[in-house]
Amino acid sequence: MQTIRSIKKMQAVARQFAAEGKTIGLVPTMGFLHEGHLSLIDRAKKAADVVITTIFVNPTQFTPHEDLTKYPRDEKGDIRKIKSAGCDIVFIPKAIDIYPDDFQTYVSVEKLSQTLEGAARPTHFRGVTTIVAKLFNITRPDVAVFGMKDFQQAIVLKQMTHDLGYPLKLIIAPTVREKDGLAMSSRNKYFTPDQRPEARALYYALRTAKEMVASGIDSARKIEKEMRAVIAATCPSAEIDYIAFTDDVGLKKVGRVAKSTICSLAVRMHRVRLIDNMKLTGRG
Ligand code: PAF
Repeated sequence: MQTIRSIKKMQAVARQFAAEGKTIGLVPTMGFLHEGHLSLIDRAKKAADVVITTIFVNPTQFTPHEDLTKYPRDEKGDIRKIKSAGCDIVFIPKAIDIYPDDFQTYVSVEKLSQTLEGAARPTHFRGVTTIVAKLFNITRPDVAVFGMKDFQQAIVLKQMTHDLGYPLKLIIAPTVREKDGLAMSSRNKYFTPDQRPEARALYYALRTAKEMVASGIDSARKIEKEMRAVIAATCPSAEIDYIAFTDDVGLKKVGRVAKSTICSLAVRMHRVRLIDNMKLTGRG
């Protein structure tokens, strides 16, 4: 596996792959990799001839009250994991090269970036779409893989891909969970061993929602009430930011659960903000 830090070099290598007729799969990450990230690499390997994983802790997607310097990092460990996952290239650009001092161009998906996470974290998605557009321009992927765990992010990026006409297929890979159901996330490491069991609250609530739907209840209001009770019982100090029932394309809120309904939620507990989601009918 090759480690590339220069944008020019990455562009040249991507052009070379294309010239050789090889398809490129891209897996953008902010590092501190866990099994969830490795499953994205695995998915990309199935869909493309060569896989590029990027590590870049993107400052523009942090909102002013979020601490960029405290974001967990482990570059050496990440490179080791990416290599053993069978990736071809790891691209680790420098912040000053991505955002030079005179940087002033942003990509923004207007409507989809404003609800749910966007309402709680204004400018977050503008940062995500800007960096991902830059990574698309640098690596020219045929396929890009993102996780369902960040469902809204994937939908926003799908819209950007469509609107800007990137010639690539965007794949949304399933959420990877810990044994107790907690969705894998770099933020899980912030919990102490005592606090950690309470983080199951989100999964328990989503599972309850899915069970209610399976039993014939389709009222979002009724399901939300029950989910709030489950969260309070599992983590009494939790503060629920939102529980939302939306369709899976335009993120339109629904009052009755249908085939395409996704339930998303954000919950703050022990100073950690967790998000998760689940399709409420069928599998997944
Ligand atoms: O999901 C993430 O880790 C980030 O938002 C992404 C897509 C790598 C952009 O920085």
